[in-house]
Amino acid sequence: MHDALQKEIATYEKRTPKSRAAHEKASSRVPLGVGSNYRYYPPYPIFVRDGHGGYIHDLDGNKYLDHNLCYGALMAGHCHPAVMKAVQERLHLGTLFGMPHGMELELADEICARFPVEMVRFGNSGSEVTMHSLRLARAVTGRGKIVKMEGGYHGGHDAISVSVKPKASQFGDPDHPTPVVSSLGVLKGTSDATLVAPFNNLPALEWLFDQHPGEIAAVIVEPIMMNIALCMPDEGYLQGVREITKRHGAMFIMDEVKTGGKLAYGGACEYFNVKPDILCLGKSIGGGFSLAAFAASRETMDVIATQKMFHAGTYNTNPVVMAAGLATLREVLTHDAFAYVDKLGKKLVDGYNEIIAKTGMAAYTDGAGANGALMFYPKRVRNYRDWYHVDEDVWTHYWFGMVNRGVMAQPYWWDEQWTLSVQHTEKDIDFHLRVFAEIAPSLVAAQQERMTTGVHG
Ligand SMILES: Cc1ncc(COP(=O)(O)O)c(C=O)c1O
Repeated sequence: MHDALQKEIATYEKRTPKSRAAHEKASSRVPLGVGSNYRYYPPYPIFVRDGHGGYIHDLDGNKYLDHNLCYGALMAGHCHPAVMKAVQERLHLGTLFGMPHGMELELADEICARFPVEMVRFGNSGSEVTMHSLRLARAVTGRGKIVKMEGGYHGGHDAISVSVKPKASQFGDPDHPTPVVSSLGVLKGTSDATLVAPFNNLPALEWLFDQHPGEIAAVIVEPIMMNIALCMPDEGYLQGVREITKRHGAMFIMDEVKTGGKLAYGGACEYFNVKPDILCLGKSIGGGFSLAAFAASRETMDVIATQKMFHAGTYNTNPVVMAAGLATLREVLTHDAFAYVDKLGKKLVDGYNEIIAKTGMAAYTDGAGANGALMFYPKRVRNYRDWYHVDEDVWTHYWFGMVNRGVMAQPYWWDEQWTLSVQHTEKDIDFHLRVFAEIAPSLVAAQQERMTTGVHG
């Protein structure tokens, strides 16, 4: 760890003693002291007191411009008035029935108006809907294997807990990655049915189909890989996946849990003009509440309608969350909102790239819709193995440097990206850029020091 980073971490510790104390206490009862492994980072995570609009406060009262936004689940921003109103109006009418109420149809209509799908089933998390979308693909095709991308993340269930963050020593052939189980406890029989392809490599995908004729039920893809920061698909790549899956009788599952509610009005389907067989949605469509969905054509969903495939859940379509989802789609994530956030996003990305060019930083910034990331890598990242070489130490310096000056530039970990919200303003972007410009020279100095000492992430 270089000196300047150590100094930033010391400053962080000085600013956030209440978070440290809260984390120490929480760790005695809650593994890692957090509710989801991603939320832990050393020395300890910031504990949040409240969030409004585009900002949050921590327990010590420090204020942060929030571009974490719950790992991209809040393009609406915190406590959006339209979402709050809808939820408050629903709350006193009962929160949970386990019986239908009519909002299922209303929300399904909204989704079908935006995305190229005909029928929708709802869930509470991205993991749930990717899990059911795989079951759906298996049910429809009668096949067992699935293909996921090396470095792709689709939640915590067994079938996709493979090659999420493999180490270089486990990689195998770049065109034919070795599948690597990513957690203890994953059932071998399940992970064995998962094949792994490199992103942005159509011949490698075709090769897998040739190796396993008639066995692959689905290819699941994040249209922009946002669990390796921000990795755009090459031009025509998604169309290529579409064509290959179709030709081999497999389903193309597009995991739009991150992109669906924050890339464009019609998500990646619209942005890249591509039509998957099964679509997964989550995060931002709920406006801050636990809403997710999987959707497909009437013909595909028929396997559920005829009760050949089982999908259920006590909390599915609970009225509070459905009210939040309806308000979010109808009143918050509008065409105008996407145009507004696109403009902010472009200003932020262009601003970063100007500072990068001016200071000679070995990095670049990329963005799409509400999303963007600073990549400490000399050329455009095209797949997991490129991303693997991002300089972690300099990235960590960047993150703590920004946080210590009031900008939560993105969630902690360099595999994430920033999210902009409809409640952020041009002034917020100016503030963000001022802070980045302030710390940029020290990042460049750290890069130079690491180059001369030969240390690299
Ligand atoms: C692309 C993608 N799919 C699925 C998930 C899982 O969603 P959840 O955390 O709501 O289970 C995530 C979470 O980050 C994700 O980024």
